[in-house]
Order: sequence, then C-alpha cells, then structure tokens
Amino acid sequence: MSVKPQDRVELFDLLFGMSWEDPASDRRALAIQPGETLLTVTSGACNTLTLLLEDPGKVYAVDINPSQSYLLELKCAAVRHLDYCELRAFLGLSPSDQRLQVFERLRGDLTAAALRYWTGKAEAVRKGVVHAGKYESFIRLFSRVLGVLQGKKRIDGLFRCETLEQQQDYFDRRWNTLQWRLLFKLFANKRVLARRGLTADYFKFDDGSSSFSESFLRRARRAMCEIPVESNYFLAQYLLAHYRSEEAVPAYLLRENLPIVRARLDRIKIVTSDAQSWLGRQPTSSIDAFSLSNICELMSREETGRLFAEVTRAARVGARVCFRNLMVPRGVPETLASEIELKEELSRELIAEDRSLVYSRVQALVVHSRSRSERRPVMTR
Ligand SMILES: C[S@@+](CC[C@H](N)C(=O)[O-])C[C@H]1O[C@@H](n2cnc3c(N)ncnc32)[C@H](O)[C@@H]1O
Repeated sequence: MSVKPQDRVELFDLLFGMSWEDPASDRRALAIQPGETLLTVTSGACNTLTLLLEDPGKVYAVDINPSQSYLLELKCAAVRHLDYCELRAFLGLSPSDQRLQVFERLRGDLTAAALRYWTGKAEAVRKGVVHAGKYESFIRLFSRVLGVLQGKKRIDGLFRCETLEQQQDYFDRRWNTLQWRLLFKLFANKRVLARRGLTADYFKFDDGSSSFSESFLRRARRAMCEIPVESNYFLAQYLLAHYRSEEAVPAYLLRENLPIVRARLDRIKIVTSDAQSWLGRQPTSSIDAFSLSNICELMSREETGRLFAEVTRAARVGARVCFRNLMVPRGVPETLASEIELKEELSRELIAEDRSLVYSRVQALVVHSRSRSERRPVMTR
C-alpha cells in the first residue's frame, strides 16, 4: 500500500544540520542490547551516530527527506576519514578555512546523489554542515536577538550556576525578564517558525493549539531550572548557537568515543523513504528497537495508525519504541494498546530529564505481540 501525499508532509530542504532530540532519552527507552537491529529517523544524524555506542548489529537510518540522508552520508564519511580535531573543524564545531579542501578527501565515499547535492551546496560545507539546516539558521537568529536582549554577562552567568538551586534562583532573579517572555511571542510562533525555521508544510497536521509561546516558555523554564545547565549542549545551542566545550557535545563527538563509532559505521544502512512504507517492506519480527522522533505529528491520524500497525508487525516480541511529541499529542492508537504497552513511569522520567527543551512528551513503549490486523506475509518491493 502506498502512502497518499495528503497523509504526510513532503520535506526536501535540509531542515536539520544536527539532531535536536536528546539521545539520552532514546538510549534509556530503547535499552539496546549488543547485536540488535534498530530503526532510527535520520534527521540531523547525530543521534543515529550516537546510538552506535550501544553496539547494535544493524541501524536502519530512515528519513523521508533525501537531504537528511545526504547529511548522514557526509557525516559518516567525515567520521571515517578525519581525526578528532579535523572532524570538529570540518563539521563546524571549531574554526576552519579548509572545509572545502577537506570535502575533496571525503567525496569518494558519497553516492552520486549525495555528491551532487553537496557539490551544489559548497557554501554550507564551507561554513560547517552542522549549521546548514533551516532550523539552525532560525536558532542563530534567536540567539542573536537573545544576546542583545539578555546580554552576554547574563547568559554567561546562567552557565556558571553549579547547582539546580542556583539555577532556579538565577532564573527567577536575573533571567525571567519581560524581554525574555517577549522573545517567545516573537519566535515561538507558528507563522515565524514555518517561514524561517521549518517549512509551512511542517504544521499541516497541527492540532491548532493556541498557547504555543506560553507552552514553549514553560518548557524552556524547565530546562533552565530543573536540568543541570553545564552539560546541556542543547541549551548552549539555543542560547549561544554553539557548543560550550569539547565535553558538552553529542556523544559520538567525544574524543574517546570516536574510534568506537568509526569502527561501527558499516552497521548503518541509509534509507530515504517514509518510515511507514519502509516498515511495510521489512520482514515480520525483524526489528528490536524503534527511535521514531516525532514523525507522527507530520502525518494524519490514519497514517499514524498504519505506522504503529507496521511497527508491531515488524517488531520482535519485547521490542522497544521511543517517540516524541512537539505540539500534537499523537501516538499509539487505542486499538493497539493491548499490543504496545506504554511504560508510564519511565516515560515520566524521560520527559523530566530530557535536555532538549522543546518536547512536550517522550514516550517509552514495549511491543508485546504482533498486531492482529497486520499478521500477514511480508510485501515484496
Ligand atoms: C520529525 S523531524 C523532528 C526533528 C527534530 N526536531 C530533531 O531533533 O531532529 C525529524 C525528521 O523526520 C523526518 N520525517 C518526517 N516524517 C517522516 C516519515 N513519515 N518517515 C520518515 N521520516 C520522516 C523529517 O524529514 C526530519 O528529518
């Protein structure tokens, strides 16, 4: 069965140069065992690469948007061929005027389509690809305006807090200004986000909730008051548009982890497809863990039902699932509740500890049996 275009969004621009979801939540929810088979949504590629640290046997990195697949190809080539300092410089974590020359060393690893894509985006390569997504340019603008409104001294002061008590006190006394709240009215606003940070299509299945900026203001407060700021590399990106240290970065970029990730790169299979169609082509009982990002919000309710029916069919018994909601509270349909169990306690802990600021829900689930309606032979391509 093919997906009707009206049931899901079409995305083609590079939206994410880095991943904006906390992989610590996926690592905990998925409890990946060595050798297991995993499905991830590629997105900014950081989380797919970071999940290699769990020692999976195979990782299918699936994304509907070909640009995100090309990004993962390029990051894999960079991890494979560059040493630690070169990798940081090439991706855009440290200064370099040599990125286009380094790209020449990587081109041999790219598929013809990815090579064409990046050759046509020399400026993005020159500036560092982690900054190349539409969302990152939106965040750069946000942090520039924040810098003017809050000032460098006040932002630095937040990151100097050493305890959660200090953070809360700092937030209440120094941070929570009228300008801070106005900033959210200005930026955490669907119209602005659709135009500058994502694409209008991204909001196609939005549930129409009106308290968008209020809700994001609350989520930001939680990240600043209830989660240690020092190691929160997402907060650093949102407030400063760069990572603050070599230690507070996605785990695949840590010096000690790089050789491990490099040795496991061949386990990644890059797939450009919507996840539901791709799952429909996978053998029954073949996948152990599913990291689904918040893709359900970018499809209709019916299509979400189809996605989870395919998840239950393709899952091994006991498989784990992690997914998020940003705006729309969309998830496992009632009809599958007996087959997919929500881990309520764990899910509550995940959202409480999630460093990524923006999500309203992170859910951990376990698949107990296959969907009755989907016990059918595997479709061939
Ligand atoms: C849902 S977005 C969320 C991104 C998120 N904020 C992050 O941290 O990266 C993640 C990715 O999902 C992809 N995507 C959206 N719908 C999809 C679908 N049905 N199947 C596969 N990928 C999908 C998008 O192209 C995007 O790259």
